[in-house]
Amino acid sequence: MSLNQTSLNKKTENNSSEFYLNNGFGSIMVPKNENFSNQVNIAEIEASAPYTVYEENGNIRSCYGIHLAETYNNWKSILTETEKFIKEILQDDIYIHQSKINYKESIPTAVWPWHRDFPFWKNYDNIPVSKMINVIVFLDNVYENSGPVQVIPGSHKHFFEEEQVDTKVEFNELTGSVSSDLDFELPLAKVESLALKNGIVSLCGEIGDISLFHPDIIHQSSPGTDDNKRRLMIITYNACSNRPVKPSARPQYFASPDYTPI
Ligand code: SIN
Ligand code: MN
Repeated sequence: MSLNQTSLNKKTENNSSEFYLNNGFGSIMVPKNENFSNQVNIAEIEASAPYTVYEENGNIRSCYGIHLAETYNNWKSILTETEKFIKEILQDDIYIHQSKINYKESIPTAVWPWHRDFPFWKNYDNIPVSKMINVIVFLDNVYENSGPVQVIPGSHKHFFEEEQVDTKVEFNELTGSVSSDLDFELPLAKVESLALKNGIVSLCGEIGDISLFHPDIIHQSSPGTDDNKRRLMIITYNACSNRPVKPSARPQYFASPDYTPI
Protein backbone atom coordinates (compact mmCIF):
# COMPACT_ATOMS: atom_id res chain seq x y z
CA MET A 1 0.00 0.00 0.00
CA SER A 2 1.43 3.38 -0.91
CA LEU A 3 0.32 5.98 1.57
CA ASN A 4 0.33 9.69 1.54
CA GLN A 5 1.85 10.15 4.98
CA THR A 6 2.52 13.51 6.59
CA SER A 7 3.37 14.78 10.05
CA LEU A 8 1.49 17.30 12.10
CA ASN A 9 4.17 19.36 13.73
CA LYS A 10 3.37 22.97 14.61
CA LYS A 11 1.78 23.78 11.28
CA THR A 12 0.03 27.06 11.88
CA GLU A 13 -2.75 26.26 9.40
CA ASN A 14 -3.81 23.38 11.66
CA ASN A 15 -4.79 25.43 14.66
CA SER A 16 -8.22 26.82 13.81
CA SER A 17 -11.52 25.38 14.95
CA GLU A 18 -12.54 25.18 11.27
CA PHE A 19 -9.53 22.99 10.48
CA TYR A 20 -10.33 20.73 13.45
CA LEU A 21 -14.00 20.35 12.53
CA ASN A 22 -13.23 19.58 8.87
CA ASN A 23 -10.32 17.21 9.43
CA GLY A 24 -11.00 15.70 12.85
CA PHE A 25 -7.62 16.69 14.30
CA GLY A 26 -5.56 19.81 14.80
CA SER A 27 -3.14 21.60 17.05
CA ILE A 28 -3.27 24.52 19.44
CA MET A 29 -0.66 27.24 19.53
CA VAL A 30 0.30 27.44 23.19
CA PRO A 31 2.81 29.96 24.50
CA LYS A 32 6.20 28.31 25.19
CA ASN A 33 6.21 27.33 28.88
CA GLU A 34 9.83 27.24 30.10
CA ASN A 35 8.58 25.78 33.38
CA PHE A 36 6.72 22.85 31.76
CA SER A 37 9.03 20.06 32.95
CA ASN A 38 8.96 21.32 36.56
CA GLN A 39 5.20 21.73 36.54
CA VAL A 40 4.46 18.36 34.97
CA ASN A 41 6.31 15.95 37.24
CA ILE A 42 5.75 12.69 35.38
CA ALA A 43 7.18 10.45 38.11
CA GLU A 44 4.81 12.04 40.63
CA ILE A 45 1.81 11.65 38.28
CA GLU A 46 2.71 7.99 37.64
CA ALA A 47 3.04 7.28 41.34
CA SER A 48 -0.37 8.80 42.13
CA ALA A 49 -2.32 7.38 39.14
CA PRO A 50 -5.27 5.23 40.29
CA TYR A 51 -4.69 2.54 37.64
CA THR A 52 -1.64 1.42 35.66
CA VAL A 53 -1.46 -0.99 32.72
CA TYR A 54 1.83 -2.74 31.94
CA GLU A 55 3.28 -4.10 28.72
CA GLU A 56 4.56 -7.68 28.46
CA ASN A 57 8.11 -6.48 29.19
CA GLY A 58 7.00 -5.00 32.54
CA ASN A 59 7.18 -1.35 31.45
CA ILE A 60 4.20 0.97 31.73
CA ARG A 61 1.71 1.04 28.83
CA SER A 62 -0.77 3.52 30.37
CA CYS A 63 -1.61 5.31 33.62
CA TYR A 64 -5.34 6.08 33.92
CA GLY A 65 -7.30 8.55 36.04
CA ILE A 66 -4.48 11.04 36.44
CA HIS A 67 -6.86 13.99 36.92
CA LEU A 68 -8.46 12.21 39.89
CA ALA A 69 -5.25 12.33 41.95
CA GLU A 70 -4.29 15.31 44.10
CA THR A 71 -1.23 15.88 41.90
CA TYR A 72 -3.66 17.18 39.22
CA ASN A 73 -3.62 20.52 41.06
CA ASN A 74 0.10 20.85 40.22
CA TRP A 75 -0.32 20.56 36.46
CA LYS A 76 -3.92 21.41 35.55
CA SER A 77 -3.08 25.02 34.61
CA ILE A 78 -1.20 23.79 31.52
CA LEU A 79 -4.64 23.08 30.05
CA THR A 80 -6.33 26.42 30.76
CA GLU A 81 -5.94 27.94 27.28
CA THR A 82 -6.81 24.64 25.61
CA GLU A 83 -9.99 24.29 27.65
CA LYS A 84 -11.14 27.77 26.53
CA PHE A 85 -10.60 26.74 22.91
CA ILE A 86 -12.48 23.46 23.39
CA LYS A 87 -15.46 25.25 24.93
CA GLU A 88 -15.53 27.45 21.82
CA ILE A 89 -15.42 24.46 19.48
CA LEU A 90 -18.10 22.52 21.37
CA GLN A 91 -20.13 25.64 22.21
CA ASP A 92 -20.70 24.22 25.68
CA ASP A 93 -19.28 23.86 29.14
CA ILE A 94 -16.99 20.86 29.55
CA TYR A 95 -15.80 18.34 32.12
CA ILE A 96 -13.10 15.66 32.01
CA HIS A 97 -14.45 12.23 31.14
CA GLN A 98 -11.13 10.35 31.04
CA SER A 99 -7.43 11.08 31.53
CA LYS A 100 -4.30 9.04 31.00
CA ILE A 101 -0.66 8.96 30.02
CA ASN A 102 0.12 6.55 27.20
CA TYR A 103 3.69 5.31 26.78
CA LYS A 104 5.31 3.50 23.87
CA GLU A 105 7.68 0.56 23.78
CA SER A 106 9.38 -0.93 20.71
CA ILE A 107 7.90 -4.42 21.25
CA PRO A 108 5.20 -5.86 18.91
CA THR A 109 2.36 -5.60 21.49
CA ALA A 110 2.94 -1.87 21.99
CA VAL A 111 0.31 -1.03 19.40
CA TRP A 112 -3.14 0.52 19.31
CA PRO A 113 -4.89 -1.00 16.26
CA TRP A 114 -7.05 1.18 14.02
CA HIS A 115 -10.14 2.23 16.01
CA ARG A 116 -12.47 5.07 16.90
CA ASP A 117 -12.79 6.12 20.55
CA PHE A 118 -16.49 6.99 20.66
CA PRO A 119 -17.86 3.39 20.51
CA PHE A 120 -16.22 2.81 23.94
CA TRP A 121 -17.76 5.93 25.42
CA LYS A 122 -21.15 5.28 23.89
CA ASN A 123 -21.45 1.57 24.68
CA TYR A 124 -19.55 1.30 27.95
CA ASP A 125 -20.01 4.77 29.45
CA ASN A 126 -23.52 5.61 28.12
CA ILE A 127 -22.57 8.95 26.55
CA PRO A 128 -25.25 9.99 24.02
CA VAL A 129 -23.29 11.63 21.18
CA SER A 130 -19.70 12.34 20.19
CA LYS A 131 -19.69 15.94 21.46
CA MET A 132 -16.28 15.30 22.99
CA ILE A 133 -12.64 16.16 22.27
CA ASN A 134 -9.35 14.38 22.96
CA VAL A 135 -6.40 16.55 23.86
CA ILE A 136 -2.83 15.28 23.55
CA VAL A 137 -0.18 17.03 25.64
CA PHE A 138 3.26 15.96 24.42
CA LEU A 139 5.41 14.95 27.39
CA ASP A 140 8.33 14.03 25.11
CA ASN A 141 9.45 15.18 21.69
CA VAL A 142 7.54 12.86 19.39
CA TYR A 143 8.83 12.06 15.91
CA GLU A 144 7.65 9.91 13.03
CA ASN A 145 9.69 6.96 14.38
CA SER A 146 8.49 7.29 17.99
CA GLY A 147 5.19 5.47 17.33
CA PRO A 148 3.05 8.64 17.16
CA VAL A 149 -0.75 8.59 17.11
CA GLN A 150 -1.69 8.43 13.42
CA VAL A 151 -5.04 9.61 12.12
CA ILE A 152 -6.95 9.33 8.85
CA PRO A 153 -8.05 12.90 8.06
CA GLY A 154 -11.79 13.27 7.59
CA SER A 155 -12.57 9.75 8.84
CA HIS A 156 -14.66 11.22 11.68
CA LYS A 157 -17.29 11.85 8.99
CA HIS A 158 -16.98 8.49 7.25
CA PHE A 159 -18.65 5.41 8.75
CA PHE A 160 -18.62 1.87 7.33
CA GLU A 161 -21.67 -0.28 6.71
CA GLU A 162 -20.55 -2.67 9.49
CA GLU A 163 -20.83 0.18 11.99
CA GLN A 164 -24.43 1.08 11.18
CA VAL A 165 -25.85 -1.77 13.30
CA ASP A 166 -27.16 0.01 16.36
CA THR A 167 -26.95 -2.70 19.01
CA LYS A 168 -25.52 -1.79 22.38
CA VAL A 169 -22.50 -3.78 23.50
CA GLU A 170 -22.25 -4.23 27.27
CA PHE A 171 -18.97 -3.74 29.12
CA ASN A 172 -17.35 -7.05 30.01
CA GLU A 173 -13.73 -6.67 31.07
CA LEU A 174 -11.08 -3.95 30.92
CA THR A 175 -8.65 -5.76 28.60
CA GLY A 176 -10.67 -4.76 25.54
CA SER A 177 -10.32 -1.07 26.45
CA VAL A 178 -6.62 -0.96 27.29
CA SER A 179 -4.66 -3.58 25.35
CA SER A 180 -3.50 -4.21 21.79
CA ASP A 181 -6.54 -6.53 21.51
CA LEU A 182 -9.09 -3.72 21.41
CA ASP A 183 -12.87 -4.01 21.31
CA PHE A 184 -14.84 -2.37 18.47
CA GLU A 185 -12.55 -3.56 15.71
CA LEU A 186 -13.00 -1.86 12.34
CA PRO A 187 -13.04 -3.63 8.94
CA LEU A 188 -9.32 -3.42 8.17
CA ALA A 189 -9.51 -3.60 4.36
CA LYS A 190 -11.96 -0.68 4.34
CA VAL A 191 -9.80 1.33 6.75
CA GLU A 192 -6.79 0.76 4.51
CA SER A 193 -8.65 1.85 1.43
CA LEU A 194 -9.87 5.01 3.21
CA ALA A 195 -6.25 5.67 4.25
CA LEU A 196 -5.14 5.33 0.64
CA LYS A 197 -7.71 7.92 -0.36
CA ASN A 198 -7.42 10.40 2.54
CA GLY A 199 -3.81 9.80 3.63
CA ILE A 200 -2.47 9.35 7.14
CA VAL A 201 -1.23 12.11 9.42
CA SER A 202 1.16 11.45 12.31
CA LEU A 203 0.55 13.64 15.33
CA CYS A 204 4.13 14.64 16.13
CA GLY A 205 5.20 17.49 18.37
CA GLU A 206 7.65 18.88 20.89
CA ILE A 207 7.41 18.73 24.68
CA GLY A 208 4.52 20.94 25.80
CA ASP A 209 2.80 21.06 22.40
CA ILE A 210 -0.88 20.30 22.21
CA SER A 211 -2.86 18.40 19.55
CA LEU A 212 -6.55 17.56 19.36
CA PHE A 213 -8.35 14.61 17.83
CA HIS A 214 -12.02 13.87 17.36
CA PRO A 215 -13.68 10.93 19.20
CA ASP A 216 -14.93 9.59 15.85
CA ILE A 217 -11.64 9.84 13.95
CA ILE A 218 -9.98 6.55 12.96
CA HIS A 219 -6.54 6.36 14.56
CA GLN A 220 -3.80 3.90 15.52
CA SER A 221 -0.22 3.80 16.71
CA SER A 222 2.62 1.39 15.96
CA PRO A 223 5.50 0.28 18.19
CA GLY A 224 8.32 2.81 18.52
CA THR A 225 11.25 2.02 16.28
CA ASP A 226 13.89 3.74 18.36
CA ASP A 227 14.63 4.02 22.04
CA ASN A 228 13.33 7.52 22.66
CA LYS A 229 10.37 7.94 24.98
CA ARG A 230 6.90 8.77 23.67
CA ARG A 231 4.81 9.78 26.61
CA LEU A 232 1.48 11.40 25.70
CA MET A 233 -0.94 12.82 28.21
CA ILE A 234 -4.42 12.34 26.73
CA ILE A 235 -7.34 14.17 28.29
CA THR A 236 -10.86 13.52 27.02
CA TYR A 237 -13.41 16.27 27.53
CA ASN A 238 -17.14 15.85 27.24
CA ALA A 239 -19.72 18.61 26.77
CA CYS A 240 -21.77 19.15 29.94
CA SER A 241 -25.00 18.78 27.94
CA ASN A 242 -23.83 15.32 26.84
CA ARG A 243 -23.35 13.60 30.20
CA PRO A 244 -23.96 9.83 30.44
CA VAL A 245 -27.60 8.78 30.54
CA LYS A 246 -26.70 6.34 33.32
CA PRO A 247 -23.49 5.61 35.26
CA SER A 248 -20.81 3.61 33.47
CA ALA A 249 -20.05 0.02 34.46
CA ARG A 250 -16.37 0.91 34.13
CA PRO A 251 -14.37 2.16 37.11
CA GLN A 252 -14.28 5.93 37.61
CA TYR A 253 -10.66 6.12 36.43
CA PHE A 254 -12.09 5.23 32.99
CA ALA A 255 -15.34 7.16 33.16
CA SER A 256 -15.27 10.01 35.61
CA PRO A 257 -18.62 10.52 37.38
CA ASP A 258 -17.83 14.16 38.29
CA TYR A 259 -19.70 16.32 35.76
CA THR A 260 -18.82 19.65 37.39
CA PRO A 261 -18.03 22.17 34.63
CA ILE A 262 -14.39 23.22 34.48
C1 SIN B 1 -1.72 5.93 21.58
O1 SIN B 1 -1.40 6.32 22.71
O2 SIN B 1 -0.87 5.73 20.73
C2 SIN B 1 -3.15 5.68 21.21
C3 SIN B 1 -4.07 6.55 21.92
C4 SIN B 1 -5.51 6.27 21.62
O3 SIN B 1 -5.84 5.36 20.91
O4 SIN B 1 -6.39 7.00 22.09
MN1 MN C 1 -8.04 5.81 20.88
